[in-house]
Amino acid sequence: MVQLKHLAVAALATASQTSASPLIFTRDDSDSNTTYAFTNANGLNFTQMNTTLPNVTIFATGGTIAGSSPDNTATSGYQAGALGIASLISAVPEMLDVANVAGVQISNVGSGDITSSILLEMAHKLNTVLCNDPSMAGAVVTHGTDTLEETAFFLDATVNCKKPVVIVGAMRPATAISADGPFNLLQAVTVASEPQARERGAMVVMNDRIASAYYVTKTNANVMDTFKAVEMGYLGAIVSNEPYFFYPAVQPTGKTAFDVTNVTAIPRVDILYSYQDMSNDTLYDAVGNGAKGVVVAGSGAGSVNTVFGDAVEELVSDKGFPVVQSTRTGNGQVPYSAEGGISSGFLSPPKSRILLGLLLAQGKKVEEIREVFGMTGI
Ligand code: SIN
Repeated sequence: MVQLKHLAVAALATASQTSASPLIFTRDDSDSNTTYAFTNANGLNFTQMNTTLPNVTIFATGGTIAGSSPDNTATSGYQAGALGIASLISAVPEMLDVANVAGVQISNVGSGDITSSILLEMAHKLNTVLCNDPSMAGAVVTHGTDTLEETAFFLDATVNCKKPVVIVGAMRPATAISADGPFNLLQAVTVASEPQARERGAMVVMNDRIASAYYVTKTNANVMDTFKAVEMGYLGAIVSNEPYFFYPAVQPTGKTAFDVTNVTAIPRVDILYSYQDMSNDTLYDAVGNGAKGVVVAGSGAGSVNTVFGDAVEELVSDKGFPVVQSTRTGNGQVPYSAEGGISSGFLSPPKSRILLGLLLAQGKKVEEIREVFGMTGI
């Protein structure tokens, strides 16, 4: 007989911030394997601990998935990062049938305010609470969609323990009619719990699809079907909350893994968008204001105007200052730089910026950086 029972969902404490008062909600529970309010050795507070289920931690950072609006039809102009991790979890009690979940509130901001220090903090914590704990199956990061692809790329490069790290967001705030966040979150937790999701690097799960963090990009400012890797495709799909992987576990060609254990800061890298008549001032201003590297979103296969190209050549060849040339087209390869800049290969400007920052944090110089970028897609 199914017994209705009140579950006390533990306060969802964080390593950096204590949040959320205890939640109470009703669910069916006939399982005697369950302990409530379980705290593990790393201080993760689980809502429940059922010995038959995998363990997943959810790092919440803010964004639309935690967004709120007085207008339930608003899909713009709402407040991102309004709800805490406890509210996100309590909105989807179904996830407790999939995994034991512990919530960690890393930040609660729109994703435009995610900084490289927040990224480093997440990488350090994930390496501790996920990678170094054999009892943990996977992790989920809830995030605003606008810069989600940057965080996903960063975590893909810096959390390298074969366990799934799944980044998830939503295009509609939690208060909207047909909000997409709750189902996206359930799917993300499900993928993070799944043994088949191991050894695929970080993944983005949204709108019933599973994509590799390495290439996936937000392709549309408004619609739910926005995260795509147009040339590279998806890793899998989710149907009736069942993940289906199209291919065996594999990592992107030329991907570089980083150990950031001792990294305390990521050097500043600026992105400059190329256009007709682009002035060299933009480049010199970036350098003068403290950038340690620059990514140019060039036109076509990375091209820039002749005068700007001369400035790139001078900076790279004479001063050893790294300038990566990527493309503003959204797809395709920059195979070669006429100016002697570093070609981004198949990496977009935002992903090139993250990779360059990580390489600079390791003290790499122009030729070593060129070598790493040269491996992407090869
Ligand atoms: C954000 O990126 O934080 C706002 C937009 C979104 O999450 O969709």
